[in-house]
Amino acid sequence: MESNRIELENPQVEYLADSSVDEAVDAQIRKLLTTCFTKPEDVVFRDRRYFIEPYPHRWVIWDMQGSLVAHIGVHEKTVEADARHFRIGGICEVCVHPDFRGRGFVRKMLVCVHDWLVRNEFDFAILFGDPRIYGSSGYVQKDNLIHDDATATGKSGTSQSPVMVRPLTETSWPGGPVYLPGPKF
Ligand SMILES: CC(C)(COP(=O)(O)OP(=O)(O)OC[C@H]1O[C@@H](n2cnc3c(N)ncnc32)[C@H](O)[C@@H]1OP(=O)(O)O)[C@@H](O)C(=O)NCCC(=O)NCCS
Repeated sequence: MESNRIELENPQVEYLADSSVDEAVDAQIRKLLTTCFTKPEDVVFRDRRYFIEPYPHRWVIWDMQGSLVAHIGVHEKTVEADARHFRIGGICEVCVHPDFRGRGFVRKMLVCVHDWLVRNEFDFAILFGDPRIYGSSGYVQKDNLIHDDATATGKSGTSQSPVMVRPLTETSWPGGPVYLPGPKF
């Protein structure tokens, strides 16, 4: 898609609770997700503001006309490893409108997300995404995450997937298998 450079003075990152999303904001979220995610399976965003599972938290940036231009969703999850449980912020639906890309909005939103996760005593932020986008925000790739597979009919087995991990405390990511109940996000 062709990009038109639009200036945005002092863009502010705003927290958006899913419980506060009304019809108009829901339409804006679905519009941005539909613009940014264009694989066949992303067609779900025409009808709902999440891919597989709903999530409670979002951080967003609005433009000066009140249009949504950047978005990060956050699931609250728990992973299990060595009989221990760790609280996880599951980062999803990271996107920036094509007209506003390349000016650090992802990094800026992630600073706010991480700050909130630390204050709320989460152990790690994790995501399934391109290492080139998230390395500068402190994410490193790990290969020991096992999660449930999701199909239209529900759970159907488990898979191991590469995952990007950002520690939020002094605790290190476990070395052995780490199990994430539920599907990838
Ligand atoms: C991916 C996306 C969110 C990046 O938005 P952006 O506004 O360019 O992000 P930022 O300016 O904050 O850049 C963050 C980092 O990502 C890197 N980056 C952005 N797009 C990239 C690309 N296509 N390939 C490689 N690196 C990329 C930037 O260079 C920057 O790295 P740095 O901090 O080491 O310099 C945006 O292109 C988008 O919405 N794409 C469609 C949806 C999507 O694919 N989401 C990501 C799922 S993993």
